[in-house]
Amino acid sequence: MTTPHHTTNPLEAPFHELVRKRRALRAFKPDPVPDDVLRSVLEDAQHTPSQCNTQPWQMHIVSGKARDELSAAIQAEEKIGHRTPDFTFARTDYPALYEARAQHQGAEYYKALGIPREDKAARRDVMWRNYTFFGAPHVALLFMPQVGDDVRIAGDLGMYGQTFLLSLAAHGLGGCPQTYLGFYAGTIRKVLGIDENSKMLFGVSFGYPDMTAPANSVYKIGRAPLKDSVTFHS
Ligand SMILES: Cc1cc2nc3c(=O)[nH]c(=O)nc-3n(C[C@H](O)[C@H](O)[C@H](O)COP(=O)(O)O)c2cc1C
Repeated sequence: MTTPHHTTNPLEAPFHELVRKRRALRAFKPDPVPDDVLRSVLEDAQHTPSQCNTQPWQMHIVSGKARDELSAAIQAEEKIGHRTPDFTFARTDYPALYEARAQHQGAEYYKALGIPREDKAARRDVMWRNYTFFGAPHVALLFMPQVGDDVRIAGDLGMYGQTFLLSLAAHGLGGCPQTYLGFYAGTIRKVLGIDENSKMLFGVSFGYPDMTAPANSVYKIGRAPLKDSVTFHS
């Protein structure tokens, strides 16, 4: 865990609190987010910086009937093992340090939910909640154009995603970024009629969080100390 940061500048305090308040939340109330609140969040996200101000994010917000149909389509594809990702994701590709952190995160999450390691069925049910958007009334899907090796565009989308998540937190909302949804990029494009050339990086289920659910109230993951991430050169 990083040590708490104490600031003497009162202007810094709200940001300091907000950035720690934001967490990946995985249980939601069914109440939809009012349109004006949603627009306010999206206007905030629009202020994200990007390379040469290209603003390459292509955001799709899915709610109501479309949300239910999308969830059903993803679940049908998952049942027959038909994944259509645009980008790879394999835990085995990660160097040992990062894989160890991922394992720790998973273990802490299942512990908070009271699910033992060997209960594969319960763990699968928890994983499956990705496809029901954790009960959230909305899901945001982050698409991007293909440019070069895609890495720099993906960086811009990551920045956009964090601005979106921080703004959700600032509005009393919450969200969970989801690579899991990216496994169904092809299906999502088909269901929503999105251009083939638009590639999906990740999704964010979002809404008003249910803070009584153990996934939100018991579970909270920390961070590595600064020395593991930052090198100072002088
Ligand atoms: C790009 C991205 C993709 C993620 N994909 C998933 C996912 O598919 N399912 C999930 O439950 N959490 C997912 N997460 C959430 C991470 O597990 C979470 O951010 C991390 O454990 C740190 O916890 P915190 O966000 O609560 O601070 C994702 C996070 C990011 C940034």
